[in-house]
Parts: sequence; structure tokens; C-alpha cells
Amino acid sequence: MNDFTKIIVSENDIGRKLDEIAVRIREDYEGKDLLLIGVLKGAVMVMADLARRMPPTVQMDWMAISSYGSGTKSSGVVRILKDLDADLTGKHVLIVEDIIDSGLTLSWLLGNLRSRGAESVEIAALLRKPDAVQVEVPVKYIGFDIPNEFVVGYGLDYAEKYRTLPFVAILDPKVYAGE
Ligand code: XMP
Ligand code: MG
Repeated sequence: MNDFTKIIVSENDIGRKLDEIAVRIREDYEGKDLLLIGVLKGAVMVMADLARRMPPTVQMDWMAISSYGSGTKSSGVVRILKDLDADLTGKHVLIVEDIIDSGLTLSWLLGNLRSRGAESVEIAALLRKPDAVQVEVPVKYIGFDIPNEFVVGYGLDYAEKYRTLPFVAILDPKVYAGE
């Protein structure tokens, strides 16, 4: 498949990193009720793989949000498409995200969830692009820092494609040329 210029995080890399992160989360939240919140659709794969490394009492909930912008850039103007089912009052919340790019989306989400009375709200993200950051967000658990290039796979899409790849790859710019 030559739509990618490079695989930057392999399936094995992801599995090993999630093993490490899961150990830390289990220790940090021992004896506490933990609610994992995933942002649809990008976080589906990382949520599924992380949640299966958690104790069976862990809960999952989902939000769908859209940040207005073009296919490869986010704008920070966020709209809720599907809200949580859970009431966050008194809960320990861990946001599970696929990627932090500018940080605008997560910064908004953090503020939104913190205003709902949770006991704690933290962030776990598989990927981060340090060179793209516009707002610093406090991330407690991070998988990999990656170059400032558009990536797909493992939940991440371009025009809804490539989400199902088991690895993360740099999308060849020719695929979105002329966007
Ligand atoms: P911000 O810039 O708000 O962006 O941190 C976060 C959201 O933008 C999407 N995003 C990407 N999606 N490949 C993708 O498929 C990328 O390289 C990429 N960078 C950002 C993603 O939805 C993320 O939650
Ligand atoms: Mg996302």
C-alpha cells in the first residue's frame, strides 16, 4: 500500500507502550472507581486496547465532538455531537485520546469535563506532536512524541479511511494534495 511514506509506530510498539501505561494507571487509581472517556471516532482503538488492560470494574463512556476546520487541521472551535451518558459528579475521569496536535480540542474538553463536578480529570494520549502545540495541556500518560506530519491508522483517519490499520503511518501528502 503506497499511500504512506513511513510507518512510525508499529503494532508491537503500541502494544508494549500500552502495557507500560496500563501498569501506571492501575497503580495510580488503585481502590478508585475509574471512568475512561473516549472521543469518537479516533480514540476507539486506543480505548479498546487500553480498557482491556484495566480491571473489569473500569467504566467507559464516549463523546463525539467536531472541531470545525479542514480535513487535516483543527480549529479549536468545538461542538458536541454526542454527549456523555454518565454523570461525572465525584468520579475519577481519564480522557483517552488518540492524538494531541495543536492541543486546542483537548484543552476545550478538559475545561468542559472539569466543570461537571468530577473528582479528578486526567488525560492519556497515544500520540503527541510537540512541534504543533499551540496550547499546553497537562497530559498524565503519553505514548509517543511524533513529528509534525499528518498520520493515519490505529483509529486516525483521512476522510474516514485508514482507521483500521493496526499501526500509525505518515500519510503521503499526495493523498491530500489539492485539499
Ligand atoms: P488538536 O489540534 O485540537 O487536534 O490537538 C486534535 C484532533 O485532530 C485530529 N488530528 C489528526 N487526525 N491525523 C489524523 O488522522 C493526524 O495527524 C491528526 N492530527 C490531529 C484528531 O481527531 C485529534 O483528536
Ligand atoms: Mg480525536
